[in-house]
Amino acid sequence: MVEVTEVRKVYRQGDVEVPALSGVSLSIDPGAFLALAGPSGSGKTTLLNLIGGLDMPDGGQITVDGRDLGALSATALTELRLHRIGFVFQAYNLIPVLTAVENTEYVMLLQGVPKKERRERSMAILDEVGLSGLYHRKPAELSGGQQQRVAVARAVVSGPSIVLADEPTANLDSSTGEGLLAMMREMNEARGVTFVFSTHDAMVMEAARKVIRMKDGRLDGDRVQ
Ligand SMILES: Nc1ncnc2c1ncn2[C@@H]1O[C@H](COP(=O)(O)OP(=O)(O)O)[C@@H](O)[C@H]1O
Ligand SMILES: [Mg+2]
Repeated sequence: MVEVTEVRKVYRQGDVEVPALSGVSLSIDPGAFLALAGPSGSGKTTLLNLIGGLDMPDGGQITVDGRDLGALSATALTELRLHRIGFVFQAYNLIPVLTAVENTEYVMLLQGVPKKERRERSMAILDEVGLSGLYHRKPAELSGGQQQRVAVARAVVSGPSIVLADEPTANLDSSTGEGLLAMMREMNEARGVTFVFSTHDAMVMEAARKVIRMKDGRLDGDRVQ
């Protein structure tokens, strides 16, 4: 589903070059529930952003569903992101003026899904993540854990090939984080949604089926559960 081959990324700040990824290769299979684990600065966010087509590598290749991201036009890349990739961020990133159900509908709106179907699918997925009855709350009227459930619902509802979640539990207390992970795992098992998430939290790694460790912009071996 995703092939990352010898990917390199260097950030430039004036004259200073900061190497973020130094030759990373990995394959992500359909149906994976994979954790990228590593300390702060190890390159997790950079790698997720490259896989999601939010940024481009300085070397190497990334393919998603067989399509080489570096070979796509800007329009084709935007289309691929819209239809194939779901994103969940550490800070939830919901749209503050929209309700839970409107936030969940948003990607489907961009995809051109008809209004009635959008609303039905959004309500069904909010029920599935345990938010029945909270459809019409705005983000500020929801707890952090509830907001992140909306973010996962929004990422999953449009039917992406893969959901990329960058430290999704970092702002949550441990039991709320554990609940969120269990919910993601359920979606992985019940719907076959592929998840890749980053973390530096041992509890979150425990929930993964496979853990790939990163250190200083390189992979540090992996552990299969
Ligand atoms: N926009 C940026 N400009 C300069 N350096 C960056 C930028 N983003 C990340 N880095 C550097 O790249 C390395 C990897 O960062 P990052 O991918 O954010 O790691 P992680 O998500 O594991 O904390 C770090 O050394 C970080 O300081
Ligand atoms: Mg990060």
